[in-house]
Amino acid sequence: MIPIAKPLIGEEEKEAVLKVLNSGIIAQGSLVEEFEKKFADYCNAKYAAAINSGTAALHVSLMAMGIKKGDEVITTPFSFIATANSILYTGAKPVFADIDKKTFNISPDSIAEKFTGKTKAILIVHLYGQPCNMKEINEIFDDNDLLILEDACQAHGAEYRGMRVGSLGDAGAFSFYPTKNMTTSEGGIITTNNREIIDKSKIFRNHGQTQRYYHEFIGYNLRMTDIAAAIGLAQLKKLDGFTEKRIDNAKYLTKKLEGIKGITTPYVSDDVRHVYHQYTIKVDDRDEVNKKLNEAGIGTGVHYPIPINEQPFYRKLGYDSKETPVASDVSKKVLSLPIHPSVTKENLDYIAGELKNILQ
Ligand SMILES: Cc1ncc(COP(=O)(O)O)c(C=O)c1O
Repeated sequence: MIPIAKPLIGEEEKEAVLKVLNSGIIAQGSLVEEFEKKFADYCNAKYAAAINSGTAALHVSLMAMGIKKGDEVITTPFSFIATANSILYTGAKPVFADIDKKTFNISPDSIAEKFTGKTKAILIVHLYGQPCNMKEINEIFDDNDLLILEDACQAHGAEYRGMRVGSLGDAGAFSFYPTKNMTTSEGGIITTNNREIIDKSKIFRNHGQTQRYYHEFIGYNLRMTDIAAAIGLAQLKKLDGFTEKRIDNAKYLTKKLEGIKGITTPYVSDDVRHVYHQYTIKVDDRDEVNKKLNEAGIGTGVHYPIPINEQPFYRKLGYDSKETPVASDVSKKVLSLPIHPSVTKENLDYIAGELKNILQ
């Protein structure tokens, strides 16, 4: 089976973890601080706060931005559920905008339509590793005092017009889950240029504690461990190499798939560095094609089969997908194929060959 994802853990990560275990300091310590500094530098952001998942990074960022009950946050329905859930955790209301037909990222025009007097922030997702159209999104902000949170959980090292994600809005949230472009096992991080957001994030992740045993806010225990940070530091050194391999594989596969009837290969905007967390095609009869690829030993993924506003839990809250028809349509056709760094050119030739057999 060619897997759809594979974390690459080498000797460096193993040695680094062993060193932490031998040190006896195995919860949050100096390695977390070093990882925060290096990851912030990598994103060209001033500050970072490590945290124990991407979901927690989104939740804490929103709280640190002051999002609360009564506020509305505009976001996309075409993402992993954690994106919208993080808004619900704060008591605020997620408002779903539709997506762009080509990139599947949130549509700036649709954001503008959803704007009300209660809108406090926009939570954008750089889906599959391709940055959103920041120029058009920022234009909406010219007349409005809104905050932007980037869900960059799939987009480590992605760039918009030469600028790294995680530094494009008021804050950015990343995930280091094992299938992501780099990992810490479970883990996440918040990046920002805003001192107040980072200070508050560090307080929220640690029980709302501002001095030892003095708690000013309701907080949580969402800290990263030095064991996770040690893995993260080793992975960060390898990230650009991993990304180059992803980009190279994606370009190769696109060439191979060109001309196969019924497939739409990923659209890439001119002004971005797409880091291909996922390589996602559009195809009719998706479920049938998916089944046949799996039978041929090719691992696949469907990101995502049900838009968030159609999930049972969101339906119970009164949401539906009437106002997001593009997301509904695309969710029936998307199919992700393996292009991660362990995938070889022979694997890609095989994947393209199987798709050709299935569709012709
Ligand atoms: C777009 C998006 N947002 C949020 C998350 C949540 O990250 P985590 O699984 O680390 O909590 C993920 C990862 O699964 C994701 O892909």
